Amino acid sequence: MVDIKRLRDAYQRGENITQKFKESGLNTLQGIEVAYDLQSGGYVQGVYKDLKGFKAYTSEMGEILKDHVCSLDSVLDCGTGELTTLSGISHYLPNDIELLAFDLSLSRINVGRRFAARAMRGDLAVKLRTFVAAIDRIPLPDKSVNVVMTSHSLEPNFGREQQLLQELLRVSCRKVILFEPSWENNTDDGRSRMERLGYIRDLPKHIEAAGGYLKNVFPLQNISNPLNPTNCYIIEVSQGDINQSKIDIPFVCPISGEHLNHFGNYLWSESGGYAYPIIEGIPILRDKYAILMTLK
Ligand SMILES: C[S@@+](CC[C@H](N)C(=O)[O-])C[C@H]1O[C@@H](n2cnc3c(N)ncnc32)[C@H](O)[C@@H]1O
Repeated sequence: MVDIKRLRDAYQRGENITQKFKESGLNTLQGIEVAYDLQSGGYVQGVYKDLKGFKAYTSEMGEILKDHVCSLDSVLDCGTGELTTLSGISHYLPNDIELLAFDLSLSRINVGRRFAARAMRGDLAVKLRTFVAAIDRIPLPDKSVNVVMTSHSLEPNFGREQQLLQELLRVSCRKVILFEPSWENNTDDGRSRMERLGYIRDLPKHIEAAGGYLKNVFPLQNISNPLNPTNCYIIEVSQGDINQSKIDIPFVCPISGEHLNHFGNYLWSESGGYAYPIIEGIPILRDKYAILMTLK
């Protein structure tokens, strides 16, 4: 268990938390989780400080996405953070879609839901399904979502690009659309920064290795940091896999893949043998929080 009080003090002194995890040899995913959880609230504050920049970034993304999302589709935002970007782009999406979003950090989703209640398009905010999960093991069935997207959430996962892309492709039945930093088009200074921060590299190569077809890639115009330029990567899932998406996509156990059933304040699969808690209405669907329960 990590000492959160010590890390929060370090964060408030301006130290780099992910770096501290790297130095102590701890699992990088845990480093990402703690570093982002400690920042909770920062992105919402950022939106209020620069409303114009937020609108420019999310309108550009929204205009791109609206050409790929159809009425009655399901859309999954992976690593949604504080739901800021998703709230901004919601205004460009068609009616009658099912919107799902998850993040490693429960605190960020909590903050984000309050933000979304004000900033997301009303019909989508009401139906939005949020949950805690890792991109490494998305608790949804194979090919269950029409459009899977990310916005700078693959970013801190250097070294695991192919594994995460395989998982995004597994749950998608049509498209995966990434808004992620571009190593390929970055300057030397930008690349040094990406290296220092442990950011992803060479997405086109990893997309191909993961079995995706990169249909198009282009830079976004509205970026907040020129050292971290955003590219949009439009990936198609192979033709044979197309459209098996479902209405009311069920959660599955991230360990066994078995369907989970809802019981009051937890989700459980009898055949999988694990239960998962629900906190503040948010299912916590990570393997590390699974509770052994073979009989109810
Ligand atoms: C730079 S923020 C971007 C948040 C949001 N997508 C946005 O556009 O504002 C990165 C987010 O990705 C999440 N994240 C990073 N790696 C992840 C992983 N492997 N699984 C789930 N979430 C992850 C972090 O917790 C963090 O909230």
